[in-house]
Amino acid sequence: MNARIAPCTLIIFGSTGDLSRVKLMPALYHLEAAGRLPEGCRVVATGRRPWDRDRWLEEMRGMLRGQVRGDVDPDVLRRLEARQDYFEGDITRPEMYSELAKWLNERKDLPSNLAVYLAIRPAEFGVVTENLSRTGLLTEDDHWRRVVIEKPFGYDLESAQSLQRRLTRFLNEEQIYRIDHYLGKEMVRNLLVFRFANLMLEPLWNRNFIDHVQITQAETLGVGSRAPYYDGAGALRDMLQSHLMQLFTLVAMEPPASMAAEDLRDEKVKVLKSVRPITPGAVRAQSFRAQYGAGTIHGERVRGYLEEEGVPQDSVTETYAAMKLYVDNWRWRGVPFYLRTGKRMAEGASHIMIRFRQPPLQLFRGTQMHNVQRNWLAIGVQPKERISLQLTAKQPGLEMKTQQVHLDTGLAAPAEAATGAYEGLLLDIMEGDRSLFLRYDEVEYSWRIVDAVLKTWSVERDFIHTYPAGSWGPRESRRLFDEEIDEWRQHIEFEDV
Ligand code: BG6
Repeated sequence: MNARIAPCTLIIFGSTGDLSRVKLMPALYHLEAAGRLPEGCRVVATGRRPWDRDRWLEEMRGMLRGQVRGDVDPDVLRRLEARQDYFEGDITRPEMYSELAKWLNERKDLPSNLAVYLAIRPAEFGVVTENLSRTGLLTEDDHWRRVVIEKPFGYDLESAQSLQRRLTRFLNEEQIYRIDHYLGKEMVRNLLVFRFANLMLEPLWNRNFIDHVQITQAETLGVGSRAPYYDGAGALRDMLQSHLMQLFTLVAMEPPASMAAEDLRDEKVKVLKSVRPITPGAVRAQSFRAQYGAGTIHGERVRGYLEEEGVPQDSVTETYAAMKLYVDNWRWRGVPFYLRTGKRMAEGASHIMIRFRQPPLQLFRGTQMHNVQRNWLAIGVQPKERISLQLTAKQPGLEMKTQQVHLDTGLAAPAEAATGAYEGLLLDIMEGDRSLFLRYDEVEYSWRIVDAVLKTWSVERDFIHTYPAGSWGPRESRRLFDEEIDEWRQHIEFEDV
């Protein structure tokens, strides 16, 4: 049991929804199994359904089956169940909030530190926060009160600003935990260690040695049952403005003064502020969008985006988005960062590929070594966490011929030690560590970067490129590359090119 963290009550709004089912409950189970939940920590699930505690526990058991790693351990389950309560409450009824406050007040066994997780539609963040505040549930005195929200934080720059204005009428910035679950991923946390705990990397990590950077998030999943949300959002908002932008800041930022939340986030914001603004005239050169058509994934025929349930026939929402960014600072001036994301791609994979510049080859003139490859450093985020460095070496033998060798290390933990992104993040919320949560200015500057692209795409509604499901996206997206010979790198495995 974790006695380092003060006991708290985690209230989950939307406890029967997908986020709770797929991420939160399994994460709580694993934290329980690892003995990491704070002593006295309690969970209050709230929802519209007229359930009692037993009915909720039955539901929760169903959620865990098939979602947790390995079999559900009856002992762990019993301990987790003992922490749980259910409160029936419809978030659209204003009286519900005073009923909840009264109920919490009467339940002397529930710790007064409250973390309120809004696993609900973003459109409801404002009104729910306002109602919680009116009943005094967000007032801190000798206990803390925290509110957790997940992206999307707004729909564009303007709506993000207006959400922020509304939230800060009822909350201090220190009380708001904005989750980007990519920051909870093992390899993403590791990026900080990898970059700043290895002396040999720092001298190379700049425009003198790095030619360009590619950041890819590809998934084989389609839009599934999320069309009502997704068709209004698209890949640029859903993935690129948030998750990919976070990976980008961690690769590009300066070393922070410390790992403290504000130091780390200051550096991330500095990178975002240094991104060269994309003017309307540069949108075509720096961005690309496309939509998946029918195709084959893992040997099975799948529908195209327009045939998915709930997608309008004439939708031009992108399921693939790519962008080129330049960071106009001393470290990165002139180095393109290429970001891309897509649904229904050939593989589910996220990685960061860093290509170094060509070394001078004068030394080898007159030998058979004319085609020396440039070095790559590949960082696999998922499905495998790994780091792979491609170097040129001599082929054994009398000839002066080269081969590519790979220093490759898998970092994945054994199954029993593996953790999901939400486990660490839930603990951070309870502990009050905001370093892996977004500060508002990060959100705002990310929107500023993509704003011109969003605006242009929203008016250019006549045409969108398509790609067959199960492919790596349209060839045309190569037009983003500064150098014509460059390509997207699809795999961590370095093919001998
Ligand atoms: C979510 C997006 O934030 O991230 C989804 O809304 C996407 O569309 C998901 O599928 C990808 O997350 P992960 O962890 O599976 O890469």
